[in-house]
Amino acid sequence: MKYNWLYIIPVLIFSSCTNTSPDDLTDNDPITELVKYDTDIAPIIQSQCIQCHNSNFASGGLALENYTDVRTSTESGSLIDRITRNAGDPLIMPQNSQLPAASINLIIQWQIDGFLEN
Ligand code: HEC
Repeated sequence: MKYNWLYIIPVLIFSSCTNTSPDDLTDNDPITELVKYDTDIAPIIQSQCIQCHNSNFASGGLALENYTDVRTSTESGSLIDRITRNAGDPLIMPQNSQLPAASINLIIQWQIDGFLEN
């Protein structure tokens, strides 16, 4: 059988150009780029944590307003301890909820990658 390369080549080029943002990651997708605070971690904290952990309203005495705040809590082990608890555990964060596995994996990988800021 003879392939029509004029058809196949554009399809190959197009399919290699698709871009995946962190929001599109499913639980099984490997994280292929270095994880950065500004692009990967801050959006998770802003949408899931900041309403209860800011400088005006710091639940448990913890504000997560900026890179230093989040890094300090992650380095101490406290933040990852809280987000990796089982659903239903009274200490799980966010309260009464659970982060998607992809978000938990990003935060763990951020630590492994050395807490890059941007
Ligand atoms: C609805 C409010 C609420 C949200 C949303 C929330 N928290 Fe909390 N958090 C609390 C409260 C209240 C406490 C203090 C009681 C306790 O320790 O469980 C607390 C305590 C903590 C502590 C322990 C305090 C410390 O310094 O060790 C950590 C860590 C924490 N939260 C992380 C997070 C993270 C990360 C998120 C987002 C993924 C988050 N929280 C989202 C209310 C919240």
